[in-house]
Amino acid sequence: MEFSRPRGTRDFLPEETSKRRWVENIIRDTFERYGYKEVQTPTFEHLELITAKSGDEIRAHLYHFKDKSNRDIALRPEFTAPVMRLYVNELQSRPKPLKLYYFGNCFRYERPQSGRFREFWQAGVELIGSGYPEAEAEVIALTVETLKKLGLQEFETHIGHIGVLRKVLKKSGVEENDQNLVLGLIDKGEIEELKNVLDELRLKEKDKQLIFNLLNLVGRNEVILKAETLLRGNIDALKELERLREVLRWLKEFGVSDYHVNFGIARGLDYYTGVVFEIYSKKLKAQKQICGGGSYSLAEVFGGEKVATCGFAFGFDRVVLALEAEGVDLGAKAKKEFLVVMTGESLLPKAIEIASMIRNRFPCHVDLMRRRLGKALAYANSIGIPFVVIVGEEELKEDKVILRDMKTGSQKEVSIKNIEKDILKVIE
Ligand code: HAM
Repeated sequence: MEFSRPRGTRDFLPEETSKRRWVENIIRDTFERYGYKEVQTPTFEHLELITAKSGDEIRAHLYHFKDKSNRDIALRPEFTAPVMRLYVNELQSRPKPLKLYYFGNCFRYERPQSGRFREFWQAGVELIGSGYPEAEAEVIALTVETLKKLGLQEFETHIGHIGVLRKVLKKSGVEENDQNLVLGLIDKGEIEELKNVLDELRLKEKDKQLIFNLLNLVGRNEVILKAETLLRGNIDALKELERLREVLRWLKEFGVSDYHVNFGIARGLDYYTGVVFEIYSKKLKAQKQICGGGSYSLAEVFGGEKVATCGFAFGFDRVVLALEAEGVDLGAKAKKEFLVVMTGESLLPKAIEIASMIRNRFPCHVDLMRRRLGKALAYANSIGIPFVVIVGEEELKEDKVILRDMKTGSQKEVSIKNIEKDILKVIE
């Protein structure tokens, strides 16, 4: 009987895993350069934590089950709620701002397609405790810098403010629960359904018009002025707009000026309150959103003190797909990997000893198949090992081995005593 993988999951073969690891390392390195420290949370949480303020989109796609003690458990669909639970439980008294990052798998029972999986990976940060606009600007700058470090070029950053939308809805008489419903429809781009819902909520024609005009405002900084005109008279919404303007001003200080202001960014999660942003890869099709984030309010939902928070998560798998679509070489530089082979089986103990010396510096195999020399060299070629060390009777007498460059076929004797140094001299 043959077993297949569950739908929406993937196996990663060695080549793919090595590329993914290369991407992961650059992301981690960039997060750490900004002072973020890694945290890990459980793969599953109590269902209520996840459903508390996540939004219909997430709730509809949860993997959840009852454990043997009849508790409702959910596999994590994202990290923001778990990380904020961790913060409330353990870290509230730490000096602010607290900068936490994470990397791990998430689960959503969605319809699988290219770039959309049931098990996928997120890499993200949460910045806790600064309510200043420069904090939000730094978080956005970090996303852009990370993508640039990875070598991604064809992407668009869209920045909006969910508070502006919420204040417009509020003034039109839409209460918070209905606001979440409306924002969810905006997020999914379901405009017809949005029209129906706004009709059901009995919005005045001019309020509906204002909402649609706002949603269609996408462009450079000049759209802020257009929004200002549209929002005239709504003091609360104008206050939120001013905040967006401040964040964008700070963003310039962080060296980021290539973005779109987009008032249609609604995000699919209920916890957002302020500046929100999404990044799209121009090379990906339907599932092109490679990053999402913004300011939100969750600590108080989990029993903690209210605290300013913002963050984002990269859809790691989509970042890898976007990089591949742009032809970025994902760390594929020839690795300096070695294979130690011998001219006769009796030399295997010496080969094992030499391999362990080489491993101090480089990845190194020793032949475990008792192959003859010719076959061993062919094997090295077939799996792309660039250097082979040949242990032979004659050379051993002088305490030497042969180092063969598989690409050029050239061979050199190197001394065993100084093997690390001598190999370095020859291969560099
Ligand atoms: P999100 O937009 O739901 O936000 O997810 C973040 C990213 O995860 C998305 O932009 C997308 O690239 C990726 N993603 C989501 N679902 C899938 C899927 N089924 N398959 C592949 N990739 C997927 C959040 O999760 C928030 N927690 C982000 C955040 C952090 N906001 C503040 N802090």
